[in-house]
Amino acid sequence: MSVVEYISKKEIDKAVSRLAKKITSDYNDEELVIIGILNGSFIFCADLVRKIQLPLIVEFLAASSYGDNTTSSGKVDITYDLKKNIYDKHVLIVEDLIDTGHTIKYLQEYLKCRRPKSLKVATLLTKPARRVHNLKIDYIGLEIEDRFVIGYGLDFAGKYRELPFIGVYQEDADETPS
Ligand code: IMP
Ligand code: MG
Repeated sequence: MSVVEYISKKEIDKAVSRLAKKITSDYNDEELVIIGILNGSFIFCADLVRKIQLPLIVEFLAASSYGDNTTSSGKVDITYDLKKNIYDKHVLIVEDLIDTGHTIKYLQEYLKCRRPKSLKVATLLTKPARRVHNLKIDYIGLEIEDRFVIGYGLDFAGKYRELPFIGVYQEDADETPS
């Protein structure tokens, strides 16, 4: 198996810039608490916050959803929680990819209980074909087909997060059964 490029660094940069511009104009100079969902969104979050022109507080929350290596289940565990109070703050959850929607649905409910002034969601990628929950996603970078992707923060069994582009696996020609 080898990794082939699916979304280039240039396309990712363009999508991140577009999102940052829209977020900057929507919040109109108000302070925003960005909550990056670890581990997958660490690179997207780092790029996005450097392009948003607003007073920001950057926080992280780690969520792991049970499931096999390539798909999540409904059960989500918070393995690292926020260190700041978000009561009465504008909050933006930053995710790498929304697939079934299990993770983000759980996180929205979890954070809503802390009564932020507003709560929105930004995701770099979405796979609408696999959605189980009817969700409102406020900011979407790119919509992708139902393929397992890696790179730019996204992993397969903990690997490939460091790739500067988003890739997919491809069977090598010499692996195809004759
Ligand atoms: P959901 O709960 O099904 O929406 O899955 C969301 C989480 O699963 C994402 O935050 C990713 O971390 C992970 N995930 C879903 N699809 C992929 C993929 O294609 N590659 C890598 N991680 C994925
Ligand atoms: Mg994730």
